[in-house]
Amino acid sequence: MKLFLDSANLKEIDEAVSWGAIDGVTTNPTLVAKEGREFVPLMKEICERVNGPVSMETVSRDAAGMIEEGRAFAALHQHIVVKCPLTKEGLKATRQLSHEGIRVNVTLCFSPNQALLAAKAGAYFVSPFVGRLDDLSQDGMLLIQDIKTIYANYRFATQILVASVRHPIHVAEAAKIGADIATMPFAVLEMLVKHPLTDAGLERFLSDWERLPPEAKQWKASAAAAPRGKAGIRASR
Ligand code: G3P
Repeated sequence: MKLFLDSANLKEIDEAVSWGAIDGVTTNPTLVAKEGREFVPLMKEICERVNGPVSMETVSRDAAGMIEEGRAFAALHQHIVVKCPLTKEGLKATRQLSHEGIRVNVTLCFSPNQALLAAKAGAYFVSPFVGRLDDLSQDGMLLIQDIKTIYANYRFATQILVASVRHPIHVAEAAKIGADIATMPFAVLEMLVKHPLTDAGLERFLSDWERLPPEAKQWKASAAAAPRGKAGIRASR
């Protein structure tokens, strides 16, 4: 499963990229507004930092406006994927833009029937918001399972991009279901790394290491003197 960062914050994006953790970025008007920067330059900077799809959301309510924005956004950088809402106007825009070869991420998806329509309109990604369904005591991950079943039944090419991810269980469940992508805030990505047993185990390793006499621990001189083996192959072979 691919992991995307759901953020327009360059520091978060750079950090996530440095881990080799992310395959793309998703943004939306709320995330962009949080940065308080000019929209287009910010999105172009994000595209330069990530070697993968970057979702850039339209802000018109009518298809004509979304199409005009989508064409302009797609022309900014090859990484741009245009985001349109799952409305009648958004579906019209998705159909037209996809016919022009412009990738569209259809967002704000909350039902299997909406996902079916997104695929029929030619969506490249569909973004079902699992967290917001959970907030209403509905099962967000059940929606992902339903979409996966429908798309498999009819061999739709649209990729399932699980969004509104709130915690690591959403990520693990999405992977078990076979979603194509999960996009998440940086805080959730950090949670994926953490486990108390990892931290405790590392402390135990390093405290045991400290008990070695100093001469046994100094490795640089020994390494420098050892015959040069190929990286990853034991020199003594
Ligand atoms: O990409 C959609 C995501 O940003 C929405 O997340 O937590 O506002 O439901 P949330």
